[in-house]
Amino acid sequence: MDVQTAPLIRMKDIEKHFGSVIALAGVSVDLFSGECHCLLGDNGAGKSTFIKTMSGVYKPTKGEIMFEGRPMRFADPRDAIAAGIATVHQHLAMIPLMSVSRNFFMGNEPLRKIGPMKFFDHDFANRVTMEEMRKMGINLRGPDQAVGTLSGGERQTVAIARAVYFGAKVLILDEPTSALGVRQTANVLSTIDKVRKQGIGVVFITHNVRHAMAVGDRFTVLNRGKTMGTALRGEIAAEELQDLMAGGQELVELEGSLGGTV
Ligand SMILES: Nc1ncnc2c1ncn2[C@@H]1O[C@H](COP(=O)(O)OP(=O)(O)OP(=O)(O)O)[C@@H](O)[C@H]1O
Ligand SMILES: [Mg+2]
Repeated sequence: MDVQTAPLIRMKDIEKHFGSVIALAGVSVDLFSGECHCLLGDNGAGKSTFIKTMSGVYKPTKGEIMFEGRPMRFADPRDAIAAGIATVHQHLAMIPLMSVSRNFFMGNEPLRKIGPMKFFDHDFANRVTMEEMRKMGINLRGPDQAVGTLSGGERQTVAIARAVYFGAKVLILDEPTSALGVRQTANVLSTIDKVRKQGIGVVFITHNVRHAMAVGDRFTVLNRGKTMGTALRGEIAAEELQDLMAGGQELVELEGSLGGTV
């Protein structure tokens, strides 16, 4: 990661109110190319609201968003996707009975012209799908394997590989590991590592400090719509991250029992 360069996305003092609910109360986060930036926080901390603001789903109530050095003004998420901001949701938009390659190219179908007719270009789609999945370390039985027969981790990888193939500069992953077992989690974390090494900026949302520590370059903890800043890898221990997620209660107790400031 090169922190000397300007951030890909700069979110500054972002506030988001839903009526009287203040979901974000002034959050600042920078995302750089080639980093995995972990966004941690308990339920209701504001993680999803924050990434939806980043990806053009919500307009911030207050605050500034810069994308590649310019003020970001996306009318809707499609603009954000066209600019290279891709989101992979935990509940993936995929059709289980359809093949991996059909799902890979859903909405971006490659067409082959035969006379006046246009057909889905199976050969091209199959070739690209096999190749892109292989790059992520997954050897499919075949491109026509149904998505429903893949494991949860493999499905996450299809969604990630697809976003990368279609030119994502920013990849937002909302809890990609929360429903997975140990081995599947390891596969997804290794995919994140590969993606980051290609220079894509990854936002990795998780509840799980161990998952974050395994791949994160920087860590931002959200707590009730606020953040206490961002820590670099090596600057913070897992226990400290856990405490921040819990609102620092442990630290306060420790402070009390030591009779001074910690
Ligand atoms: N559309 C909405 N309308 C009203 N309140 C909302 C809306 N979206 C989120 N909130 C509130 O904002 C706060 C933050 O929610 P958010 O979904 O961002 O949390 P989260 O960190 O993603 O939680 P989780 O870990 O459960 O996914 C919560 O109090 C939630 O109830
Ligand atoms: Mg959420």
